[in-house]
Amino acid sequence: MAPGSDLELVRHHLTTARNITVLTGAGISADSGVPTFRGTDGLWRNYRAEDLATPEAFARDPRLVWEWYNWRRELIATKQPNAAHLALTELERRARAFWLITQNVDGLHRDAGSRNLSEIHGNIWRVRCTGCQAVQDNRDLPIAILPSCPHCGSLLRPHIVWFGESLFAADLEQCAQALSQCDLLLVIGTSGVVYPAAGFASVAKDAGAFVAEINLDPTPQSSLVDVSLQGRAKDLVPLLLDPIE
Ligand code: OAD
Ligand code: ZN
Repeated sequence: MAPGSDLELVRHHLTTARNITVLTGAGISADSGVPTFRGTDGLWRNYRAEDLATPEAFARDPRLVWEWYNWRRELIATKQPNAAHLALTELERRARAFWLITQNVDGLHRDAGSRNLSEIHGNIWRVRCTGCQAVQDNRDLPIAILPSCPHCGSLLRPHIVWFGESLFAADLEQCAQALSQCDLLLVIGTSGVVYPAAGFASVAKDAGAFVAEINLDPTPQSSLVDVSLQGRAKDLVPLLLDPIE
């Protein structure tokens, strides 16, 4: 648990901030039982990202990639938002201006009721046509292996930003705006190694924001943020909000 004074300092900024941006990563969903990527049981400890989460992997073996996403969809379908997701929904309700940027593709922020939300790595419950590029919601469990587009018949792919791909332009613009305008940035449950999100804390800091990190462990960002609170997201995030009534 963090020293009380650091917690108080973040609470103070939460009450006085006019514009709040939040960046989340797999750690916030870990408390719902969704595996992270780089922890001890992280997905990238047991699977090779380059075999499963790159455009080259999908071109080589779309069946394998879809099987892996089906496995993850089955797993995520059994999970619910936790107290940290719900606290961020409440923070959005109370804040004057608020934007939530998530790297998570599990859709749990959406399920929790967050509205001002950029899912910058996509959403596992959406598919995109490799031909006409149409994006659709799809909650099939399991989704057909090698699903085809209802409009043009081309192969559908997960609507996920894979390694080697760029973020969607609209999301990048929205993030740039949120990071430049916020006076408080909360960075929750991300290892801070995957760009561009790994650079967001320093972008906001350079633009004058107070930056607080909430993570189970120290990260490469811990030395550059104003306050680093160590603990579980599901415990710390609701605690931060308590006094804002
Ligand atoms: P990582 O798995 O890299 O990092 C998870 C972070 O959460 C670590 O820093 C943990 O210390 C922290 N953590 C774990 N449990 C926590 C808890 N209960 N409370 C608070 N913090 C906790 O996940 P990301 O940083 O999200 O990309 O990874 C970034 C991207 O890399 C992902 O979006 C994914 C992956 O490849 C795509 O899916 C495209
Ligand atoms: Zn199509």
